[in-house]
Amino acid sequence: MTDYTVRTLRPDEHRAAADLFRSTLHVVPTTDDSWRITERMLQPGRTLGAFDTELIGTARSFDAEMTLPGGARAGLAAVTGVGVRPDRTRRGVLTELMRTQLTDIAARGLPFAALWASEGVIYHRFGYGVATRSRSYEIQRRRAVLRPEVPAGGQVELWSLDTALERLPALYDALPHPRPAMMTRPPYWWPGWERHAREATSPVVTAVHHGSEGPDGYVVYKVERKHWSEPATLDVIGLETATDEAFTGLWRYLLGVDLVDTIRADERPVDEPVELLFTDIRAVRDTGGGDELWLRLVDVPAALGARGYTGEPVVLEVADPVLAANSGRYRVSPDGVHRTDKTADLRLDVDALAMIYLGAWRPSLLAGAGRIRATSASGLERADRLFTTPVPAWCGTHF
Ligand SMILES: CC(C)(COP(=O)(O)OP(=O)(O)OC[C@H]1O[C@@H](n2cnc3c(N)ncnc32)[C@H](O)[C@@H]1OP(=O)(O)O)[C@@H](O)C(=O)NCCC(=O)NCCS
Repeated sequence: MTDYTVRTLRPDEHRAAADLFRSTLHVVPTTDDSWRITERMLQPGRTLGAFDTELIGTARSFDAEMTLPGGARAGLAAVTGVGVRPDRTRRGVLTELMRTQLTDIAARGLPFAALWASEGVIYHRFGYGVATRSRSYEIQRRRAVLRPEVPAGGQVELWSLDTALERLPALYDALPHPRPAMMTRPPYWWPGWERHAREATSPVVTAVHHGSEGPDGYVVYKVERKHWSEPATLDVIGLETATDEAFTGLWRYLLGVDLVDTIRADERPVDEPVELLFTDIRAVRDTGGGDELWLRLVDVPAALGARGYTGEPVVLEVADPVLAANSGRYRVSPDGVHRTDKTADLRLDVDALAMIYLGAWRPSLLAGAGRIRATSASGLERADRLFTTPVPAWCGTHF
C-alpha cells in the first residue's frame, strides 16, 4: 500500500518538477532564462510526478531512435530527469515512477528505453543493464607529434555558438551513426546542449571539417584556463566523424590550438584509434571509462527480432519481473526470433539480456559471474558468437 500517487504532469507543473530534479542533483533551481531553454526539452505528456501532499518525485523521457547491430534503427524512450526528494527516498517512490513509465513506454510500442545512470546500483532492478562502455583519455599536446603518414585532412571551419545552434542539428542528422547504440538527437535533446554551452564558464567552440563531399565531421570543445600562467586543458565535448580524413583533420586542428597543454576526452568509444596518429603512442593516457548507456528491452521479442545476428541458434529463457509479458523462451537465430517451448540453452534476467544485446559483454562472461545460467557449454559458445558485434557499441549522446 503506497501513500503517494504517480501521474503525468500538466505543463504548469513542469518547472516545479525540473527544479525538484535539479535539487536532487544538488543544483540550484532554474532561472527564468534557463527555464526558457529547459522547457523546450520536455516532450508533451512525458513528465511524470509522484505526489503525497505535494510533488515528491519525477521522471521524464523523450523519443529517439537507436542504431542496432546489423544497421537497423529502432525506437527508444530516452529516460532522464529522474529524482526523488531526499526526505521521501527509500520508500518506493522511484519504483512506482519506473513501473508507470515502463508500462507507458510499452503501451506506446517502443521496444527500448535507455538512460545514463547517476549511480550503478539503482536501475538493474527495473531491467536496465549496462549496454555500452566508454573510455576517457588525456593527450599531452606537446608530446603528441603526428606520424608523417597521417592524412592531411581538409579545411576546418569554426562556427560560433549561434551558428552551431542553427546548423549542428542538421549536420548531426546527416552524419552516419554506424555504431550500435548511436541515437538520433530529436528537438528535445538540443536545448540541453544549448543550456550547457550557454552556462559554460569558457567559450564552447564548434570546429567543422570539410571533406571532398562537404561537411563530414565536427568537434565541440572548450578550453579551461584558470590563470594566464597555468597549464590549460582543452575538453572535447563532442566529436563525430564520417571519414578517416575528418578524424585526422580534426585531431590535427585540435593539436594546433594554442595555449593548451592537455587535451581531455571523456566518454569516448573504447576503440577510438587516437594513439595510432602519434609517433609516441604513450602521448595518450587512459584516465578512466566505464558504463555508458543503460538499456532496457521493453518489448523483448520485438527488440530481439530487430537486430542482426551471425552464427547458430540459441534458446534464451528470459525473466522479466517488471513487464511480465516479456518472460518466456525465445529461439534467436540469424533467420529470426520467435517464442518456443524448446529447452533453454541460457536462462537470464532481462537486465542481463540488455548487457549482451549490443555486444558490450559476452554471455560467457556473465555466466562466469553467475548472471546467466547455461545448460550447456556449447549453448554459451553459440550465444557468444550470436551476440558479438563487429564494432563496439557506443552511444555518445548524453541525456
Ligand atoms: C535514486 C533515487 C531516484 C531513488 O529514489 P527512491 O524513491 O529512494 O527509490 P526506491 O525507494 O524506489 O528504491 C528502490 C530500490 O532501489 C534502492 N536504491 C534506490 N536508490 C539507491 C541508491 N542511490 N543507492 C542504493 N540503493 C538505491 C533502494 O534501496 C530500493 O531497494 P529495495 O528494492 O531492495 O528496497 C533518489 O535517491 C534520488 O533522487 N537520488 C538523487 C538523484 C539521482 O541520482 N537521480 C537519478 C538520476 S539518473
